[in-house]
Amino acid sequence: MTDKPRVWVSRPTFPGVIARLEPHFEVSVEEAERKFSPSELADKLAAQDAVIVGLKDRIGAAEIAGAHRLRIVANLGVGYDNLDLDALGAAGIAASNTADVLNESVADYTWALLLGAARRMSAAERWLRAGHWHGSEFKAWLGTDVRGRTLGILGMGRIGQAIAHRAVGFGMPVIYHNRSPLPEAVERACNARYVDKQQLLGGADFLVLALPLSARTRHAIAAPELALMKPTAMLVNIARGGIVDDAALAAALRDRRLAGAALDVFEGEPKVHPALLTLDNVVLSPHIASATTDTRRAMTSLAVDNVLAMFGYGPHAGRPPNILNPNVL
Ligand code: GLV
Repeated sequence: MTDKPRVWVSRPTFPGVIARLEPHFEVSVEEAERKFSPSELADKLAAQDAVIVGLKDRIGAAEIAGAHRLRIVANLGVGYDNLDLDALGAAGIAASNTADVLNESVADYTWALLLGAARRMSAAERWLRAGHWHGSEFKAWLGTDVRGRTLGILGMGRIGQAIAHRAVGFGMPVIYHNRSPLPEAVERACNARYVDKQQLLGGADFLVLALPLSARTRHAIAAPELALMKPTAMLVNIARGGIVDDAALAAALRDRRLAGAALDVFEGEPKVHPALLTLDNVVLSPHIASATTDTRRAMTSLAVDNVLAMFGYGPHAGRPPNILNPNVL
């Protein structure tokens, strides 16, 4: 034991990056990926000065009740709906995320999903793996072209903007809805036009969700919103499960009131609504939009920077660069 402050990392990441903490901290890293119960988390947090956690670690008042030494919770993710910022702020504990370093990887993956849905890639692959070959039939596996179709984006933060930038290459006009319109110069750079939510729902041929989950955005896309979409439209969710009512979505896809969907995130993750698993007009993946080696390494590095800064080390000493509750500083 040393008298260095202690950092706990709740999941295996990149040891070479975590090693940057070692000169200043006693570091413990979980060797296997797992989900901690609230009481396990509370026990872990009680013994730490800093923690680097993932999105499945839900941290609120109960988990920090005994965490008297804890100064920062550094989240490995841009979204932080797993953290209760009010409870952390009230306890004087800083919280940080990994905004920005994942924008481009997530935007790339969004397009992979969108194109995968448009061209029915998952279903075609399942068909091929099952030993069939229908690709040679002229009218088998007909998909949808994206050129000239309208891309709608709900939530036009930095990820939404990175998604919009790529639309130029695919020849797609972009409409978006956001809490407030972007400055004109940013809109111009994204080639995107602000519309209200109803116009977005009715106008998009491909609707991408890129907004954070909060009490306000929970079920932002449910049966009434799905009913406003074109029956030929496709929905892409790379944001968070819970923004979409997955049961209502599955029903719309089953009844062909919506042509298709591509989902990287699910309500009640890691569970997936069973009806979605039975449908052929949906592309599914296990929450991997930011999962490239470079990006996951950069996210780890940013979490480390935030911890170092909280304890007065590194170029951001005293002010973690991604602080979410600056009032605690
Ligand atoms: C992933 O979902 C993230 O929030 O970074």
